[in-house]
Amino acid sequence: MKKIFLSVLPLVYIIIVGCKGQNKLAYTMQTSSIDVKVDSILGLMTLKEKVGQMLNIGLPSVLKGDYWDARDSASFDDKKFQKFIVDYAVGSIHNTPQYLAGTDEWYQIVKKIQDASMNHTRLKIPVLYGIDNIHGANFIKGSVLFPHQIALAATWNREISAMNGKITSYESRAASLPWNFNPNIDVAINPLWGRISESFGEDPYLISEMGSAYVKGSQGESLKNPENTAICLKHFVGYGAGRNGKDRANALIPENSLRQYFLPPFKKAIEDGAKGVMISSNAVNGIPCHSNKHYITDILKGELGFKGVVISDFSDVEFLIEMHEVTASKREATKMAVNAGIDMLMNPYDIDVVDYIVDMVEKKEISMERIDDAVSRILKLKFELNLFEKPYNNPKDYPDFGSEKHIAANYNSAAEAITLLKNKEAVLPLKKGKKILVTGYAANSLNMLNGAWSRTFLGQDTKYNDPSKLTILNAIEKEVGSNNIEYVEGTNYTEDVNTADAVSKAKNADYIVVCVGEMPATEKPSDINELDLPQAQQDLVKKLSVYKKPIILVLLQGRPRIIREIEPMADAILMAYYPGEEGGRAISDVLFGTINPSGKLPYTYPKYSGNAVTYYHKKADIRDVNWGYDGFYPQFEFGFGLSYTSFEYSNFSIDKDSFKGNDALKISVSVKNTGNREGKEVVQLYLKDIVASVAPDSKRLIRFEKITLKPNQSQTVEFTIDSNDLKFIGMENTWIVESGDFEFQIGSSSQEVLKKQINYKQ
Ligand code: BGC
Repeated sequence: MKKIFLSVLPLVYIIIVGCKGQNKLAYTMQTSSIDVKVDSILGLMTLKEKVGQMLNIGLPSVLKGDYWDARDSASFDDKKFQKFIVDYAVGSIHNTPQYLAGTDEWYQIVKKIQDASMNHTRLKIPVLYGIDNIHGANFIKGSVLFPHQIALAATWNREISAMNGKITSYESRAASLPWNFNPNIDVAINPLWGRISESFGEDPYLISEMGSAYVKGSQGESLKNPENTAICLKHFVGYGAGRNGKDRANALIPENSLRQYFLPPFKKAIEDGAKGVMISSNAVNGIPCHSNKHYITDILKGELGFKGVVISDFSDVEFLIEMHEVTASKREATKMAVNAGIDMLMNPYDIDVVDYIVDMVEKKEISMERIDDAVSRILKLKFELNLFEKPYNNPKDYPDFGSEKHIAANYNSAAEAITLLKNKEAVLPLKKGKKILVTGYAANSLNMLNGAWSRTFLGQDTKYNDPSKLTILNAIEKEVGSNNIEYVEGTNYTEDVNTADAVSKAKNADYIVVCVGEMPATEKPSDINELDLPQAQQDLVKKLSVYKKPIILVLLQGRPRIIREIEPMADAILMAYYPGEEGGRAISDVLFGTINPSGKLPYTYPKYSGNAVTYYHKKADIRDVNWGYDGFYPQFEFGFGLSYTSFEYSNFSIDKDSFKGNDALKISVSVKNTGNREGKEVVQLYLKDIVASVAPDSKRLIRFEKITLKPNQSQTVEFTIDSNDLKFIGMENTWIVESGDFEFQIGSSSQEVLKKQINYKQ
């Protein structure tokens, strides 16, 4: 094997590639056009080489031992390595070696793979490594563990989402990992769904805005910059809408809902340059997304104009057989997926799909055009990421990895996410010098701050926890001294441990801080049968309430677990989501007032599991037993969150009395900080279509802005909208606008709003 660079034109080089006994081949390496380079390589590839590019295997497939074996080093298996990386020249790899590798170890792993693929394969094409950076570069030792996405959504701060994306990219690239299987822009409409923590919540507009900011922050101006990663939007489409709320459950999504709610976040992220899309493992209307040509080829690649790489989710070709039962043969399942428009198959364990595809192309069951489309997209991304020239990065070039600067950004993210849901008689901030009982399953656990995808898949293992990070208990002790603190675990996730002990200690406490929540989990292990917070944890709160001491309830959870019965016993409630590694500090700083909370709920928090509707329901959904329309009574509404200061909204004005055609409308409101400390407020603008040919939503978020105000300071917030904002999916399943009356609602949550109605004519 040899590699000779010839300077042919000033900016054009040729790589000569060849193997013993083969003709020498050449492809254009450095021209200004990536498309020329891609075509040049494509022209040289054998069918098997092309199909090899379409395979994404799991790293453990080339390591010693069985795939899921626990390991403490990434020891490559020579035979498997030769087969996957060299003989089949696989295009992509994902996953971890099943232990927590640091940047130096990752460098060695990726270098070994890239050196082989770039020196010992005929075409010397680098491998594209993808990884689940769900909340920070969570599979790299020493990286910052950010709050989960649901908490980012609760900041309602686009800059924070962008910053999370940027730092995650940087820390991922420090480990030579250039492709991030994130963000998750599923619309989480079923509160039972176990991956709500990984999502931006229930609202298509909030998801679009926060998702797009994350994409821009991650990918930056150019992927050539070795601090940026390509992202992979997921999961296309409807994963968060499973009918029974279980992982990968069938979703029923009529076409108008698909277009109205589920596609817009993808549309926006694609317009903003997203480079990858992962297909959802579930079925929608009984049709598995992985075999849905209409969704992938017609809508995603066609209507939404997606030009990047479409990858399947883990083992989903096999799931077409085992889980979806749409075929009994792997060959057929592979054909369905490729013909539906999937470019890369995440087939973690074996290579058989390559052989099937080669055979099916030869037999014309899959067209060569389809293969060329897939391979071009993959090669293009590799060029965009500059992998041909820089297939791995030296960790030493990333001095900010895990730095104080990144830790500070992490703390700020948690600080802006925490959402104050109740504060009776201003019990918070807590006064110092008082006796505090700290109790509950989540009080002294780093895992409960970090959630799933934290060093390990489920995030339940304590062995990789960073001892320098503070649990909620540690942070409170640091703040007020351990002499003032009593700690009793109380319960574990579902069972009583020593509730009686906690109750007896409550007697002498001035405050009781109870930290409850749900065990970190994702995918199948995160399935639940009821939304209620486990009984043992609720009982702890109930028993603690006997002394009528102020109870501060801290919630550590992804989903909104039902707390109806214990809510009245709590004087204050803090929703902390999974706030990440700096979450203990941030929670304590909110409790003691160093941070003035400014998070707002990114979903409707239901009071009853049998009445879990999104805030953008139809009027018919909330008809009550008295024939009225009072059937919407969540525990806390979408967009809700208190502050230690207060804000007053006034001068709500619209610059026209009516509007028509493409007129722009300026909508403004004045917001004043009427309290005595600086605070941040999220100004939210909603639209209510009064009458429409398709039953209109109760309201829809159409703009928001987070502002900071000092005491007594006022600011006028102005939003510009036009007829595009009035559009909805009509009877023909296309976006339409209708003349009529529209109500604009502006305020600090989806329920506390000022309203103004205006007429629009087409
Ligand atoms: C998950 C994806 C993830 C993939 C790779 C799948 O099981 O559904 O979200 O990106 O695994 O780890």
